[in-house]
Amino acid sequence: MKASRPHLVAIFAQSLDGKIASDRLQRPSFGSREDYRHLETQAAQQQALIMGAATLRAYGTSLRLRDPELLRQRVVQGLPPQPLTIICSASGELSPDLPFFRQPLTRWLWTTPSGAGAWPRGSGFEEVWVAPDWDLPARLLRLKTLGFDRVGVLGGGRLLGAFLQAQALDELWVTLAPVLLSGYPDPPASIEGWQVEGSPPQLELLECRQGSVELFLRYRLDWRNP
Ligand SMILES: NC(=O)c1ccc[n+]([C@@H]2O[C@H](COP(=O)([O-])OP(=O)(O)OC[C@H]3O[C@@H](n4cnc5c(N)ncnc54)[C@H](OP(=O)(O)O)[C@@H]3O)[C@@H](O)[C@H]2O)c1
Repeated sequence: MKASRPHLVAIFAQSLDGKIASDRLQRPSFGSREDYRHLETQAAQQQALIMGAATLRAYGTSLRLRDPELLRQRVVQGLPPQPLTIICSASGELSPDLPFFRQPLTRWLWTTPSGAGAWPRGSGFEEVWVAPDWDLPARLLRLKTLGFDRVGVLGGGRLLGAFLQAQALDELWVTLAPVLLSGYPDPPASIEGWQVEGSPPQLELLECRQGSVELFLRYRLDWRNP
């Protein structure tokens, strides 16, 4: 599997009780400046960033690298200033008025035939990849074939669940934030909709850094079944 797709790193922040926002329709409000800096640093290592449609609707924008040193390092590595941004939306229901469409980013859409109807070429996304079903392995193989070796997955939880279902995550960068969110009516979880088939991945702790209020944890996922 691995040779046929990029190296995939999920980067997200969660509460101590496993939630990534207090309300599914809103962006999280618990992240510190230090966590944003961490997110930007990890995102700067990637050639592309993949994000779920609900996350885009909640944020209105995607991540845009701003740190001059990170931008300089990308130039030295021969990378474009900003990673490619890929939005996953089966429905294609995204408002063209979102500030996202005015950010200086290269935008691609992964969608279905019905979702693609609203997004003809040149109407917000530089490329639209259409497939009747999700078929994540085929999309990732195509991405790899185009030279994408390092890709970040920014969530939300339903998108991460789809990547886990396809055994298509190699690392998790989890920020553990000092907040409890499960008491809210509809707090989204960090991973949703994943059903174990065979054995779950083995997790190996690669890094554990203590920030001023958060823990920054990096795990490797090993999908080889024992
Ligand atoms: N704390 C953090 O680090 C963090 C990070 C990211 C997001 N969030 C929060 O997470 C929440 C959103 O997460 P979420 O889990 O509800 O949604 P999500 O994963 O962002 O997006 C789900 C949507 O992505 C598309 N999608 C995902 N998997 C798909 C698949 N297999 N096939 C086709 N389309 C697929 C669908 O779009 P359509 O509905 O358009 O078909 C689906 O509704 C928001 O509250 C956001 O603020 C927090």
